[in-house]
Amino acid sequence: MAKAPAPSEIDWQNLGFEYMDLPYRFLAHYKDGKWDDGTLTEDATLHISEGSTGLHYGQADFEGLKAYRTKNGDIQLFRPDQNAARMQKSCERLLMPAFPTDKFINAVKSVVKANADYVPPYGTGGTLYLRPLMIGVGGNIGVHPAPEYLFTVFAMPVGAYYKGGVKPTNFTTSYYDRAAPHGTGQSKVGGNYGGSLLPGDEAHKAGFSDVIYLDPATHTKIEEAGSANFFGVTKDNEFVTPKSDSILPSITKYSLLYLAEHNLGMKPVQGDVFIDDLDRFTEAGAMGTAAVIAPIGGIEYKDQLHVFYSETEVGPVTQKLYDTLTGIQFGDVEAPEGWIQKVEL
Ligand SMILES: Cc1ncc(COP(=O)(O)O)c(C=O)c1O
Repeated sequence: MAKAPAPSEIDWQNLGFEYMDLPYRFLAHYKDGKWDDGTLTEDATLHISEGSTGLHYGQADFEGLKAYRTKNGDIQLFRPDQNAARMQKSCERLLMPAFPTDKFINAVKSVVKANADYVPPYGTGGTLYLRPLMIGVGGNIGVHPAPEYLFTVFAMPVGAYYKGGVKPTNFTTSYYDRAAPHGTGQSKVGGNYGGSLLPGDEAHKAGFSDVIYLDPATHTKIEEAGSANFFGVTKDNEFVTPKSDSILPSITKYSLLYLAEHNLGMKPVQGDVFIDDLDRFTEAGAMGTAAVIAPIGGIEYKDQLHVFYSETEVGPVTQKLYDTLTGIQFGDVEAPEGWIQKVEL
């Protein structure tokens, strides 16, 4: 596997969202009922048994968060405690051992520090994307929890989602579901994503940026926007997001529910979003760590494209939400207490 280029050779302005083998990652091993201390390693390859449950039975969960370079050159994390807590919930669902919050944050910080030269410069819009991952390993063939587990955190620089400004894209609805009514939709587990590849591919081939998933029980309500949560803005100044047990609880979503209320004076609403009642929204978007805030131009449903604000221009409320959130993440806007953690270099 090719190693990442030296930081001096990276074109920071034109990074995409691609895997890169950076110099260091963190790796811990769970055996005989406990986690070892874990260590930084230069080996990007996992050596695991062919009987690993992570390979056969989807006993695997993960997280995604970013490290941000501020104007004065510091590096900071956005709400990493929330990622640790969500991973613990995912682990509970798949009968995997929890990785404690303090160890999770220390592991993330150690990876950022060891690869600090790969955190993109302030002003490029780039960030260091961090991928904590846990998998069941060890010889096993029955459908049982694994005897051992690996927890790793690896990282790579990724580019701004939008080059040259935030731009809307269109989404389409799908026949397929990403999650079952009482399944694993609330957990960030590998299986949810395997099942989303085909609908995602069909949407891309039809010229859409991703799929709007409807609720799996009735197919009447919006649940997710690809691998991001959905929001709509009403003319009554409400910030509305779907509420459902099969949606991944997005950290960006909870942050924006708070910022919409406290920084923008909006009314935060979590409730049903019916696919045949989109006229109530003046703007709409997708939100998540990777997408940040992606304005939705229109949604195709039953061969009709419903356009919200515009197919080419971002709406004013979406822009304000974007500026507030990214301002906090890059250290230019004051953050609510406890949201930002500095990485000591
Ligand atoms: C299915 C799905 N929904 C929503 C999100 C957004 O969550 P977050 O804001 O925590 O990144 C993600 C990405 O993590 C996701 O994979």
